[in-house]
Amino acid sequence: MPLAVAPGLLLLLLLASGTRGALVVSVPTSPVRAQPGSDLLLGCHFSVGGAVDMDALVVQWKLGGRPVAEFSEVQSYFRAGASLSLEGLRVGNASLLLPRVGGTDAGLYTCSIIHSPSRESRQVELRVEAPPRVSVSGTVVRAGEHSTVTCSVNSFYPESVNITWLRDKQIVGGPETPLAQPGPDGLYSATSLLQLVPSISHTDANYSCRVQHITLGAPIQEPFQLSVLSQPRLTLLQPLVTLEGQVTLQCLVSGYYPPDITVQWLRDGDPLVTMESSPMKETDGSFALRSSYILNHPESNAQANFACRVQHPALSTPLESTATWTVPTCTKTCLRVIGLILLVLLLLLAMWLMYQCCNISISQIHVRECFPEGSVTMLLCEAEGRLRDTDSLTWRSLRLGKELGSGQPGELSALMPKPEQHHVVTWRHRLGLGRQRLTSVLTVQTPRDKESFSCTFRLGARDMQQTQITIPGVAPAPPPHSWFPVVQLPWQKVSPGPTPS
Ligand SMILES: *[C@@H]1O[C@H](CO)[C@@H](O)[C@H](O)[C@H]1NC(C)=O
Ligand SMILES: *[C@@H]1O[C@H](CO)[C@@H](O)[C@H](O)[C@H]1NC(C)=O
Ligand SMILES: *[C@@H]1O[C@H](CO)[C@@H](O)[C@H](O)[C@H]1NC(C)=O
Repeated sequence: MPLAVAPGLLLLLLLASGTRGALVVSVPTSPVRAQPGSDLLLGCHFSVGGAVDMDALVVQWKLGGRPVAEFSEVQSYFRAGASLSLEGLRVGNASLLLPRVGGTDAGLYTCSIIHSPSRESRQVELRVEAPPRVSVSGTVVRAGEHSTVTCSVNSFYPESVNITWLRDKQIVGGPETPLAQPGPDGLYSATSLLQLVPSISHTDANYSCRVQHITLGAPIQEPFQLSVLSQPRLTLLQPLVTLEGQVTLQCLVSGYYPPDITVQWLRDGDPLVTMESSPMKETDGSFALRSSYILNHPESNAQANFACRVQHPALSTPLESTATWTVPTCTKTCLRVIGLILLVLLLLLAMWLMYQCCNISISQIHVRECFPEGSVTMLLCEAEGRLRDTDSLTWRSLRLGKELGSGQPGELSALMPKPEQHHVVTWRHRLGLGRQRLTSVLTVQTPRDKESFSCTFRLGARDMQQTQITIPGVAPAPPPHSWFPVVQLPWQKVSPGPTPS
């Protein structure tokens, strides 16, 4: 151990050199510091200005008033393990070896040298001390749970230590002087606990554990921040089903912190390409996100198990929730839409049917008497609509209760009076859009009494619509200018239709 010599002592040493009988003793500068448990050589050197006469030499080490070691012809020791070196004494080295120093070794030592007739002594202070080492643990805490942060102060001596907890420079715990526990090396350890129920907002705070100890000029501040963990909650949402039948499985992950998270959809354990919303920050500082998987062929996946899996630092094992996909029965919206479509279809069908069958109109029977003396009466009946070639207009005499026939397609010339009792001629005229006009003309000998005729529209074999007329028996004089009503009648321009098959 290097020994410092005070400048004054050095001067004395220089002055004494060569002067026989002058005794000079030197010790290191006070205080000497030693860690508990270490071996210490407490220096003390002397000079007698020549060879040391061992018979005239007495060396005494004392701590306070108690003797520690002595040499006077023989060596005596009063502290276990203390020793002086005989060889050292012969050359002026009276350093005291103290193995494994402890708290009881601290104090003011006196090194006294007697080299008859001279005697000299020097004092040196020994301090046994060790500065503390500070560490903080338990800073990973769970939001909303009772948590304990530990400040460990180790390897210090002497045993008194003060610990204070600070948050953003405000005292939140202590100062306390915890009970220190001695270790096998003679050094002390102590701990202080900070109890808290953290919230996510505590992650931003700057904490520290402040330790005061006699060996420290300024207290040690061990800074730390809390890592607050908040466990994610997993909720499976109702799958989204579009009208096109596309199904989107969805899970909601919420309440987690920190924001790093892995959310994955699995199909029977195999990872799927997953879509994720960007995380949303909630008011309490936690995060939430929605993860979706689009099922392109829902029916073929009917028997598969789909799971939403979450991995997060707050979870020891991944969180998983399984959805067994069932082919959706129609949702309410879907039912409504289908109902609406069916209704529209029904309406369209009804309209089509009405257009097909009922939109056939049959005209009133027009009467024209022609030929002089009104001997011949012509009755005209028309039907218009989506007629088929099998549809017909049939004349009937109500007096005779007899059908007069549907008539044959014919030319206008066929209207010329015939000797028979009656004669029927029919035309078809195509009007476009599948519509036809059927015109039928009944020519009869004007009866003597009044007589009724009917014109019936026949759809296939069924009578659909009927119109009838009664003509007076006595024929009035015919209009002199025209015997044939071609000018007034709408069917006048009609050209004959094709022959019904
Ligand atoms: C004095 O003696 C001790 C042994 O007792 C030795 O370790 C030390 O080095 C010596 N000092 C000097 C300066 O020779
Ligand atoms: C905590 O310390 C950091 C850097 O040392 C600083 O930026 C931050 O503002 C501090 N937080 C508070 C709440 O004081
Ligand atoms: C610890 O605190 C007490 C009381 O506040 C004080 O008397 C003592 O000196 C402190 N100890 C240290 C090592 O700072």
